Amino acid sequence: MSKLKIVGMGPGSPDYITDIAKQSVQNAEIVIGAKKALKLFQDFIHCESLALTAQNIIEGLKYGVASAAAGKEVVILSTGDPGFSGLLGSLLKVAGKDVDFDVIPNVSSIQICAARLRMRWDTATLISFHADASNEKKMKLVEATKSGNIVILLPDPQSFSPSDVARFLIENGIDKKTAVSVCENLTLTNEKVVTSTLAGILEQEFGVLCVMVVGEKNTKVK
Ligand SMILES: C[S@@+](CC[C@H](N)C(=O)[O-])C[C@H]1O[C@@H](n2cnc3c(N)ncnc32)[C@H](O)[C@@H]1O
Repeated sequence: MSKLKIVGMGPGSPDYITDIAKQSVQNAEIVIGAKKALKLFQDFIHCESLALTAQNIIEGLKYGVASAAAGKEVVILSTGDPGFSGLLGSLLKVAGKDVDFDVIPNVSSIQICAARLRMRWDTATLISFHADASNEKKMKLVEATKSGNIVILLPDPQSFSPSDVARFLIENGIDKKTAVSVCENLTLTNEKVVTSTLAGILEQEFGVLCVMVVGEKNTKVK
């Protein structure tokens, strides 16, 4: 195993802390992650920790890479699965090809969302707008929806919220009666699942933690 590990923390509930994630954190000499990740693992952190913010992500990851190169056991905690819109993307940019590290996977918010809606997700189109709501991605969403694909997407809390997504789709010719579900705060005590239509979502507000599904007609929420 490498000195540097990027470890998925799952969707936020302690129920989704895997044994391997717990052991990695317990054995670490430095744990790096967002405040909520450090809080979730607080009982297992017995070493130095560094809280990542929007302002210090690159600097924090560089510190992790340099510390592992200097011989320390370093864990970077990433929400959900590191490889889906997680810190793996940033780490790959920072680390370059020569740095060795292990990726410890976990359950992504999109998997929990699909489970709550009791839908398969192997045939769905997956798009993350988190921190990247580019026009190219928005048009991919329109095209996928037009061709009848089910889309599971992460909205961007700042620039492309669920109501912005609904408005954009309607403005681009998608039927306002198209089925939509928004799954908020998955696995947390305030979890909420709303199933509606594009028109029905227009005036609704959701928190930062949500996953949206467009075009799934057979949603059966328990
Ligand atoms: C930076 S992305 C990380 C995604 C993560 N790597 C994953 O696999 O779920 C953060 C976004 O993931 C989604 N998310 C993460 N945890 C969530 C949860 N418990 N409930 C709903 N959405 C969640 C939200 O859209 C949030 O804005």
